[in-house]
Amino acid sequence: MIVCTTARDLARVLAPRGRACSFVPTMGALHEGHAALVRQGAALAKSRDLHDGCVVSIFVNPTQFTDASDLAKYPRTLEADLALCLAAGASIVYAPPASDVYPPEAPPAVPSLPAVATQPGLEDAFRPGHFAGVCQVVKRLFELVNPHVAVFGEKDWQQLAVIRAMTKELRLPVEVLSAPTVREPSGLAMSSRNRRLQPKDLPAALSLSQALCDAWAERTPADAERRMHHVLREAGAIVEYAVVRDAATLLPLPAQPANMSGSTSGTPPARSLIAATVGGVRLIDNESWRPAQ
Ligand code: PAF
Repeated sequence: MIVCTTARDLARVLAPRGRACSFVPTMGALHEGHAALVRQGAALAKSRDLHDGCVVSIFVNPTQFTDASDLAKYPRTLEADLALCLAAGASIVYAPPASDVYPPEAPPAVPSLPAVATQPGLEDAFRPGHFAGVCQVVKRLFELVNPHVAVFGEKDWQQLAVIRAMTKELRLPVEVLSAPTVREPSGLAMSSRNRRLQPKDLPAALSLSQALCDAWAERTPADAERRMHHVLREAGAIVEYAVVRDAATLLPLPAQPANMSGSTSGTPPARSLIAATVGGVRLIDNESWRPAQ
């Protein structure tokens, strides 16, 4: 595995004409969820005969943090991250300083944001400016790595939708694929932030996956939302949102469509999504949702 810390080094090791690798962008503090993304990236590179293999970027992107203390607290564990990348089959790691991604003499522009980055009132409302930073860095990383295919985790469901939409609207020559959320045996979605949870906060942290699970017992989005709020509040989580939305646009589902209480044909696929704070740690989670029969 080759480790590059500058775009110039990266350009030297990648195939000159590009599009010969898969790509997994990360902010480090890697865990088993990232390992699954890297394994998927490595398998894609192999099956598609991508000569440069799987490239992983490790870069804590300052422009997507809306809170300076959140950025300062973000765990940085480069040595362990490199070991995980190697074990999961990465062939190249790009771990640059901020000045390499954002050269002061030519700072990359923020691309125009797709509707799913501004309209749903979810992460866009609670972390204003976040998706501008995500789109800015992902577009920049796509330019530097020039991958054939990139893999993102489904835990950040709105981010995935935003990146898919941006890639399509800007006609970036990258296929965007996703990988399912990896969970602890307890149901807790794996996240770099979990290491900041105190043992006393675990029951409240578990209420996110519990609420998503309980929402499956409900017959309408409104009942599912009520149930999720109840489960989260009872456990002591501070809820930002707990909603059921159109899985693609993340906008509210049409109110009580005729077939919502029985057959699901004709209704758009739905997703339940939660953001809540537990012991000062902001957690997000999501699952597919369908009305109970
Ligand atoms: O999901 C993440 O880790 C980050 O938002 C990403 C996509 C690597 C951009 O910094």
